[in-house]
Amino acid sequence: MPYVVTQSCCSDGACVVACPVNAIHPAPGEPGFATAEMLYVDPVTCVDCGACATACPVDALLPDTKLTDKQLPFIELNAAYYREHPHADRTPLALVPPHRESDTLGLRVAVVGAGPAGMYAADELLKLPGVEVDVFDRLPTPYGLARFGVAPDHPRTRQVIELFEKIEREPGFRYRLDVEVGSDVSLDELRVGYHAVVYAVGAATDRRLGVPGEELPGSVSATELVAWYNGHPDAAERDYPLDTERAVVIGNGNVALDVARILTAEPDRLAETDISRRALLGLRGSGIREVVVLGRRGPAEAAFTLPELVGLAGLDDVDVVVEGEVAVTDAKTGILADIARRTPVPGRRRIVLRFNRAPVRVLGDDVADGLEVERTEVLDGRAVLTGETERIDAGLVLRAIGYRAQPVPGLPFDERRALVPNDGGRVEPGVYVAGWIKRGATGYLGTNKTCSKETVDRLLDDLDAGLLRVPAH
Ligand SMILES: Cc1cc2nc3c(=O)[nH]c(=O)nc-3n(C[C@H](O)[C@H](O)[C@H](O)COP(=O)(O)OP(=O)(O)OC[C@H]3O[C@@H](n4cnc5c(N)ncnc54)[C@H](O)[C@@H]3O)c2cc1C
Ligand SMILES: NC(=O)c1ccc[n+]([C@@H]2O[C@H](COP(=O)([O-])OP(=O)(O)OC[C@H]3O[C@@H](n4cnc5c(N)ncnc54)[C@H](OP(=O)(O)O)[C@@H]3O)[C@@H](O)[C@H]2O)c1
Ligand code: SF4
Ligand code: SF4
Repeated sequence: MPYVVTQSCCSDGACVVACPVNAIHPAPGEPGFATAEMLYVDPVTCVDCGACATACPVDALLPDTKLTDKQLPFIELNAAYYREHPHADRTPLALVPPHRESDTLGLRVAVVGAGPAGMYAADELLKLPGVEVDVFDRLPTPYGLARFGVAPDHPRTRQVIELFEKIEREPGFRYRLDVEVGSDVSLDELRVGYHAVVYAVGAATDRRLGVPGEELPGSVSATELVAWYNGHPDAAERDYPLDTERAVVIGNGNVALDVARILTAEPDRLAETDISRRALLGLRGSGIREVVVLGRRGPAEAAFTLPELVGLAGLDDVDVVVEGEVAVTDAKTGILADIARRTPVPGRRRIVLRFNRAPVRVLGDDVADGLEVERTEVLDGRAVLTGETERIDAGLVLRAIGYRAQPVPGLPFDERRALVPNDGGRVEPGVYVAGWIKRGATGYLGTNKTCSKETVDRLLDDLDAGLLRVPAH
C-alpha cells in the first residue's frame, strides 16, 4: 500500500526529509526540483509508514487505497516517474542544513508582504536565535495569493494557511497589517527601524494583450476575476457580465484552468467552499454554458501542469472537451488525447480546450461580444501566425496570460522581466526580495520556501560580513 502524491502538491519538499527510506523525488538539491510540478513517491521503496503524510501541509499524500476515482491516475503518474528516473540510492536523505555561526541576537527584520514568500522568509529568520520579525501587509488579512489566489474549490491547497498560522505563533513574530509600505511607511523609515528589509510583495497586476478592444467592458483580466471570487478587498464589489452563454479564456496556464472551472462549476458545489458570497450569488445567476480556453501554441506547449490537468479531467459536473488532434509525446499530451476521445454528455456545462489560436482583437462596439483569433502553427517552439482568422462569440473575454509585478518605490525595476533585479535575493546590503517580486510570476506555493531560504542566506551573509546597519531604535 504505497503512498501517492496527488494534485494538491505545492512542491515545498517537506515530505522528502520526513521519509525514512528516501522514497520521494525529485528532492531539494536534485535536478528538476526547482521546476517540479509535483513530487513523486517510489512505490517500490515506500514502506507505508505515513511520515510524509504528517509532514505535508496540504494533505497531498495519501495511501493508494484511499484515493478517489478521479485521483487514481496519480498511482501511475507516481510510478511512471521512477521508470523514467530510476534511483538506486535508498539511504535516508537527512538533509542537514550547514550550521551558521551568525550572531543573530537582536537582529530586527521587516518583511513586506504576508504572502507565502513573506511567511516562509519569516519562518527561516525565526529559526535563528534572538531574531525579531515584523511582517507588514497592505491588507488587513494576511497570506497573499494563498488566501486570495488559490481557487476556492482547492480546499486542501488552502490548508497551507494552517502552516502560516503556526509561523505567526513563533516567538519574535509580529504582524503590522493594514499598512502599505511605500505610502503609509517608506523604505527609508523601515531602514531606520530595522537591520534589514525583505520585500515579498508579489505581482499584483495582470499582463496586457496589447490587442484592439482589450479595454471594452466585458474584456476582463483573470487577475480581477480571481480576486472577485476570492473576496479580495480591492475587487469584492465588482460585477461581471455572466448573462452570456459563452466565455472565452485567453491563456493556457493553471490560472486559465482555475477560472474555467469556477465559471462552469455547479453553484451548489461552490457553496460548500469559502468562495465570496457575492461571487456565489453572481454565479448562481450565470448563463454561462461553455468556457473556451485558448492556447496560442499546441497541446504539447500548454503551460498548465499535469496534476491540474488530471484534476480537470476528473470533474464530474462538467464536460471537458479537447478539440483537434493531439500527438502523444508525454504524460500531459497522453491525458489530453484521452479526453479528446470522450463523448460529451448533452446538457452539461463544458470547458473546451482549443489550441493553436492567438488573440487578434476583442470584438464589440460598446461591450465585448466576441474575440477574433488567428490560427497558428508551432515552429521551433514558437507560435507562428497562419493568416487564417475566425470569430468566437462570447460575452465575457478573460485574459489569463500571467501576473505582473509593479515597481517598488525606492528600488530598481527590470521592466522587461517585471521584477526587482537581485543577486539570489539581495538588492543591496540591508534590502532583499523574495517570491514573485524576486523571480517573476511563476511557481507554486512551495517554490517560495526554497526562494525565501536563499534570500535569508544572502541576508545572513551580509550580517556576517558586517554590512547591515544598526537600526536607530
Ligand atoms: C490565481 C492563482 C492561483 C494559484 N493557485 C496555486 C495553487 O493552487 N497551488 C500552488 O502551489 N500555487 C498556486 N499559485 C501560485 C502561488 O500563489 C504563488 O507562488 C505565491 O502566492 C507567490 O507568493 P508571494 O508571497 O511572492 O506573493 P503574494 O502571494 O502575492 O503575496 C504578496 C503579499 O504582499 C502584500 N503587499 C503587496 N504590496 C505591498 C505593500 N506595498 N505593502 C505591504 N504589503 C504589500 C500583498 O497584499 C500580499 O499579501 C497560484 C497563483 C495564482 C495567481
Ligand atoms: N494549482 C496550481 O499549482 C497553480 C494554480 C494557479 C497558478 N499557479 C502558478 O502560478 C503561476 C502563474 O500562472 P498563470 O497561469 O498566470 O501563468 P503561466 O503559467 O505563465 O501561463 C500563462 C499563459 O498565457 C499565455 N500567454 C502569454 N501571453 C499571451 C498572449 N499575448 N496571447 C496569448 N496567450 C498568452 C502563455 O502562453 P505561452 O506559453 O505560449 O507563452 C501561457 O499559456 C504559474 O507558475 C502557475 O503554475 C499554480
Ligand atoms: S509512507 Fe513513509 S516510506 Fe512511504 S513515501 Fe511516505 S514517508 Fe516515505
Ligand atoms: S506539498 Fe510538499 S510535503 Fe506535500 S507532497 Fe508536495 S512536496 Fe511533499
